Amino acid sequence: MIHRLLAVLSFVFLCVGTASAEPLKWGGPIGSQTSDGYNALGPVVKQPIEFPHYRHARDMGISCLYCHTGARRGYVSVIPRIDKCIGCHQNIESVRNKPRIKKLFEYWEKKEPIPWKKVNDLPDYVRFNHERHVQRFYFRQNRPIREVCGYCHGDVANMTVDRRVKSLSMGWCISCHQKDHRENDVSMKTSHGPYECWQCHK
Ligand code: HEC
Ligand code: HEC
Ligand code: HEC
Ligand code: HEC
Ligand code: HEC
Repeated sequence: MIHRLLAVLSFVFLCVGTASAEPLKWGGPIGSQTSDGYNALGPVVKQPIEFPHYRHARDMGISCLYCHTGARRGYVSVIPRIDKCIGCHQNIESVRNKPRIKKLFEYWEKKEPIPWKKVNDLPDYVRFNHERHVQRFYFRQNRPIREVCGYCHGDVANMTVDRRVKSLSMGWCISCHQKDHRENDVSMKTSHGPYECWQCHK
């Protein structure tokens, strides 16, 4: 009941809040509703630096693929290396003295990578390939990139610390594979994702 109430309150907050207001942190017990209506599927991961996706991907409109360069042609999407952050942040005075940016430069000066923790993590016996999904939905169906990543990650551009909001279970993968997916944006021809065990299991 309390969670439902909080969900309603946060919905109201999101409606009246200004676009640049800090979004609510996703959280709460597993199974409770987050303010955007997703189920909270895991505890909030404590990251070494709280990276604000909403300021980079939503407010500044930086493409997901600019940072997650692996998604278009690899199995793994890749978290950007620290030099990509520094390349921009060494020229940005407005936030240079903020605690999180100081921490960023501390890692840089120590020549240490930022020890980001994994949020979405399938067991090792599952084979998952970003490229095939991104090629299909983004390059061939021509859907917006935020929507495509969102099928499996939710609306990351509105999150601060990324949260897992989809179950990523076997039944969840297969239920999407069973649907008719258009092969591209010009023909009405459809096809499915694979059901064979070996396609997803090593
Ligand atoms: C400026 C660079 C940048 C941009 C742009 C960006 N991200 Fe990220 N992303 C990161 C960093 C850094 C992390 C690691 C911190 C974290 O997990 O919160 C991350 C983490 C993630 C994760 C969690 C990874 C895991 O461990 O499972 C997902 C999913 C993700 N981003 C999706 C997106 C999507 C979708 C977009 C576009 C809407 C996007 N990102 C835009 C830098 C970026
Ligand atoms: C394309 C340029 C660009 C890149 C690349 C970039 N940032 Fe930023 N970042 C900005 C700008 C501009 C701001 C200030 C935005 C604002 O004022 O709302 C910012 C704000 C931030 C803030 C919030 C600071 C605060 O407390 O107000 C953090 C934290 C941050 N960036 C971390 C990172 C990390 C970590 C990376 C690398 C994964 C990264 N940024 C990559 C441009 C960038
Ligand atoms: C069809 C579902 C699906 C789509 C679409 C998808 N992802 Fe993922 N993503 C996953 C799964 C599943 C994992 C966990 C993979 C693992 O643990 O092996 C993951 C992991 C990640 C990670 C952590 C690093 C990694 O690759 O393991 C990042 C970052 C990420 N995704 C970003 C993105 C971005 C950005 C997009 C859009 C360009 C995107 N994803 C589209 C399902 C998806
Ligand atoms: C949004 C719908 C959707 C979701 C969710 C989804 N898939 Fe897929 N998947 C597809 C479609 C469509 C294809 C066919 C892509 C193509 O080749 O055009 C596909 C293809 C694949 C392939 C074949 C790629 C190859 O390398 O041969 C694998 C393996 C796969 N998916 C695994 C997964 C796993 C594991 C998950 C869950 C973590 C998942 N998928 C979630 C729609 C989805
Ligand atoms: C579309 C991808 C996909 C296909 C096809 C698929 N699996 Fe899975 N399977 C997964 C994923 C993802 C997980 C991990 C689920 C999790 O972490 O909760 C999994 C987990 C499992 C597990 C471990 C379950 C558990 O409860 O620990 C077994 C056993 C399994 N699969 C067998 C099969 C068999 C047998 C088939 C063929 C009939 C099959 N899978 C087809 C994606 C798939």
